[in-house]
Formats: sequence, structure tokens, C-alpha cells
Amino acid sequence: MSFIEFRNVCKMYPGAKKNTVENFNLNIEEKEFIAFVGPSGCGKSTTLRMVAGFEEITGGELYIDGKKMNDVAPRDRGIAMVFQNYALYPHMTVEKNIGYGLKNMKLPSDQIKEKVDWAIRILGLEEYRFRKPKNLSGGQRQRVALGRAIVKNQKVFLMDEPLSNLDAKLRVSMRTEISKLHRDLGATTIYVTHDQVEAMTMADRIVIMKDGVIQQVGKPMELYDHPKNQFVAGFIGSPQMNFFQVAVEENQVRFADGSFLTLPDDTLRRLGGRQGEMVLGIRGEDVKLDSQGAEQDGTERLQAVITNNEVMGNENNLYFTFGGSQAVARVSKYELRSIGDAISFVFMPSKLHFFDKNTGINYMEEQS
Ligand SMILES: Nc1ncnc2c1ncn2[C@@H]1O[C@H](COP(=O)(O)OP(=O)(O)OP(=O)(O)O)[C@@H](O)[C@H]1O
Ligand SMILES: [Mg+2]
Repeated sequence: MSFIEFRNVCKMYPGAKKNTVENFNLNIEEKEFIAFVGPSGCGKSTTLRMVAGFEEITGGELYIDGKKMNDVAPRDRGIAMVFQNYALYPHMTVEKNIGYGLKNMKLPSDQIKEKVDWAIRILGLEEYRFRKPKNLSGGQRQRVALGRAIVKNQKVFLMDEPLSNLDAKLRVSMRTEISKLHRDLGATTIYVTHDQVEAMTMADRIVIMKDGVIQQVGKPMELYDHPKNQFVAGFIGSPQMNFFQVAVEENQVRFADGSFLTLPDDTLRRLGGRQGEMVLGIRGEDVKLDSQGAEQDGTERLQAVITNNEVMGNENNLYFTFGGSQAVARVSKYELRSIGDAISFVFMPSKLHFFDKNTGINYMEEQS
């Protein structure tokens, strides 16, 4: 049995007409770091709160460490939780804030001190030990909130958007700190975020949700390279994967504006003989400008004109209109172009995705 098991877990809020979380099935191994991602309202927090015991499970079963948790009180589930709006006690110092929960648990004071000392050290808060929250930066406050959770020494760590109140730079550095903390403590962690970059950079595996339903579970690069449907393909990766309405006829792809692309045999084989209207997807880095080498020899060059460019230095996005859609190519600093420049490019044939235009299923990943 896995450390945490969701079996057909459902949530129906009182008065709702349908489940907010629908048949959620997932096995989480001990010490794993799992991220739940998905758009606002897809049920991430609801699912996490059912694990914590703050929200009733209205269907299915939840097991932690072999024990059914459905009717176990939150405090007896062996979990620690960090929320987005962690409210620190304003009148208490850092050390008092971190130790408060332990005091409530009636732990002897020497044990409290030992745990608080440990948390302060591991989170690098020594300098701030006697400060009150109002005299701390956002990142330091966030570390105090983490400290309050880690001193509880639980086997399961639940975090609900813990970094969303921080500015972009702090978020990046806290990401690293939380990953390190996870390696040091080894607590099984579920981390909720709507930020796919956070999920990609921190998690062992990612659960992508939409409308209360799991879309795909996988390692970050599995989801990136092998999205099972168009939603996952569009959600993971920035800029978003390029999508085109196309029709496949014989061995050709016809775009809305009449452009054609010939598909190599290997791609046709993977398409399994499918013909007709579908959605073609290709990531920006798989759109190769002509200058980028001869590996695509034999593949048709396509033409377009740059309509916009986003220059970031290391990653540069060239926008253009092709096949009736807006599209983007990601290029290195050596391939920068200006607005109005004509480009000639190829879609790397092995990187093409084809999605069912109604269900969004990725035909190229159906076998797996
Ligand atoms: N107590 C409640 N009663 C009724 N409906 C609720 C309740 N809490 C949440 N919901 C609804 O359930 C759905 C899922 O909410 P949830 O908070 O789980 O989403 P989320 O994925 O965490 O979104 P966000 O990224 O915005 O935090 C939403 O449509 C929300 O309005
Ligand atoms: Mg939420």
C-alpha cells in the first residue's frame, strides 16, 4: 500500500448540484513531493483540505499510512499544514510564534525549546529570533510559518499556495528553500499551486486538475513532453504550446489559411491512420528557424513575418501569424529577429502533437 491513497475520493459541497472533486484516485509514496496544479476553482484546496480533515470527504476513501482517515479528526491525522494566508501572531516574537502550537500540545518547555532551536537553525532565522512579525520581510514571515509547521514533526506536510503572497524574486528563493527543507526532513508533501513553474521546479510528480477531475499525473518532463490531452499541453509550459486548427488529408496537414505541411512516415504511423479535422500542437522551441542546422532536411520550410518579439536575453520569443493562428518560436540570442522580418522555419516533425478537436485527447500519446 502507498503512504497516501485516494480511492475515488469525491467532494459534494452542501447545496451543490455536482461534485467539486470527482473520483480522485492517486497513490503517493512515502517522502514524495507531489504538486497539485490547475486553474482557479478546479478543486485543489478542497482536495488538500479533505486530506487535512478540514473538509468532509463525501465519497470514496482516503488512507494515510495504511489507516482509513475519512472519520479521523484533523489533529489525529499526523499532518502539518501551511496556508496561503498564514496568520502569524503579531504580538509574539519569531520563537514564540514557532513554539506556540507545541505549547498548546502541552509539550514540556525543554522539548519545545529544543524543537524551536532546531527550526530556527534549519530555516536560518537566528538573527530574527526575538523580532515580531511586523519587523520581518515577507520571506522571513513565510519561513516562520514554515517553522510552525515543521516543529510538529509530522510525516505529512500540506502546503496551499504558501508563496503566493511573495514577490517574484522571493518566490524563486523560497522555492529552493522549500525543496531543500523537503530533502532534509523527508516528509511526504502535497503542495498546491496554480503556478506551473513552481510545480515543475519543485515536485517529484505533478497532478494536473481541471473542474475537479485529474487530467494527468506524471513527472514534470513527462507532462511537458507527453501531455495526454490539449489541456495539459496548454497548461504546462510558457509561452503556451502553439495550437492550429488543421485537417489531415493523406500525408498532408492543411492549415486554415491553405498552407500545407507534409508529414513523414513515422508521424503518420503514430497518427494511426487518422484523417480529418484535428488540432496540431507544437512547442515554441520545436519551431526551428532555417538557420538552426540541417537536421530537418527534407522537411518543408514554412514562411511567416514577425509581428512581435519578446526579448529576455537568454530566452527570446518571436511571434508570428501562421496557418490562421498566432504562433511563437523560442530562439536563442543569436537568432533574434525584428518586427517585420520574414522568417523561414520548420516544425520539428518528431515533436508534433495531434489532438482530437472535440475531446482534446492527444493521439500521439494514446498508446502510453
Ligand atoms: N465551502 C464551500 N462551499 C461551496 N463551494 C465551495 C466551498 N469552498 C469552495 N467551493 C467551490 O469549490 C470549487 C473549488 O474550490 P477550491 O477552493 O478547491 O479551488 P482551488 O483549485 O483551490 O482554486 P484557487 O486556485 O482559486 O485557490 C470552487 O468552485 C469553489 O467556489
Ligand atoms: Mg485554492
